[in-house]
Amino acid sequence: MLTKLIAQSEDKILALMALYRNDPRDTKIDLGVGVYKDASGVTPIMRAIKDAELRLWQEQQTKTYVGLAGDPAFSHAMKSLVLGDAVKADRVAAVATPGGTGAIRQGLELIALADTGATIWLSDPTWANHPSIIDHLGLPRTHYRYFDPETCTVNFDGMMSDLAQVKAGDVVLLHGCCHNPTGANLKPIEFQAVIDLLNKTGAIPFVDIAYQGFGDGLSEDAAFTRAIVAGCPEALVAASCSKNFGIYRERTGVLFAVSDNQPTRDLAQANMAYLNRQNFSFPPDHGARLVTMILEDENLRSDWQTELEEIRTGMLSLRVQLTEALQSECGSNRFGFLAEHRGMFSRLGISPDAVQTLRQDHGIYMVGDSRINIAGLNAKTIPVLASAIAKVL
Ligand code: LMR
Repeated sequence: MLTKLIAQSEDKILALMALYRNDPRDTKIDLGVGVYKDASGVTPIMRAIKDAELRLWQEQQTKTYVGLAGDPAFSHAMKSLVLGDAVKADRVAAVATPGGTGAIRQGLELIALADTGATIWLSDPTWANHPSIIDHLGLPRTHYRYFDPETCTVNFDGMMSDLAQVKAGDVVLLHGCCHNPTGANLKPIEFQAVIDLLNKTGAIPFVDIAYQGFGDGLSEDAAFTRAIVAGCPEALVAASCSKNFGIYRERTGVLFAVSDNQPTRDLAQANMAYLNRQNFSFPPDHGARLVTMILEDENLRSDWQTELEEIRTGMLSLRVQLTEALQSECGSNRFGFLAEHRGMFSRLGISPDAVQTLRQDHGIYMVGDSRINIAGLNAKTIPVLASAIAKVL
């Protein structure tokens, strides 16, 4: 049987991680996978997580199963973090999932289970794992214009004109904030027009929000998601705790399904619990419990928010430093958009050849589409990157 398997195409981000690891040069720079690193290159465990872990170790008396949907306290805390009070609780079904990817996967499976023949519309470009999971599930997909490679900003007119073609019942996948891979985001003033168009066409929004707190602030980054759940009769929201709580390997995420009445919400809740049971039974609990403890405890929460804010402003400062370094190396404002982008990533808009040369000749690793992880930079590596980019252009 196993001989009948065919080779699967490798995930480009994860393949890059392996290439980087195997590069013996000690001057190498990793701007690949989306993991936050501090100025010394370490991905720290956040203080509030450490404190919560210690308390959990002291207080937890059992490791018995929780529930198929995870701990209701986690869903409640995450609902308030992500959705705020944009929607009444009796409209929201929620299940804990293994990370944000798990939430995406369960959301897509829920769409498949509803069996409406929906096509999934993805931004062009999007996180490479979106189309990969959709193809794996055999769901139809297409894309809408999103990024203007000339200006490295959102092609809002192109996006709106493509979304006007969406059929009723189709699903539109939107990035809640900090678009991955481009770093280019909608302006708040544009949110309502997108929501009006979704409602006009009868499309169902599916929001992927994996970087809340990494862009303009916790509530600012949730504003689009909240406006969507407040303004659309149905919506799916996949939220990740990997980045903003720094608990990547704990696999902590949540899927929300928002419906316009309670019986439909209950039906969605039962289907989502069923899907968890089919795929992995109970979702991981450790990370979810730490997140709940932090969000429910005033001191832990305040410390977490302070550290998250340091991370966010640190990335903004790296953006400004990189923009200035590139301006002086290249003698132009070609990369001025970097200071306007938000989140961990920006797409530089340089050619695949240039990306390859940066890797081979300079030991600088970025994804093939020229996506860089801003948080992989520091004061020492910014001048190195800027001068290397100027050389390969
Ligand atoms: C990324 O885009 O680098 C992150 O979301 C990590 C991943 O799983 O790809």
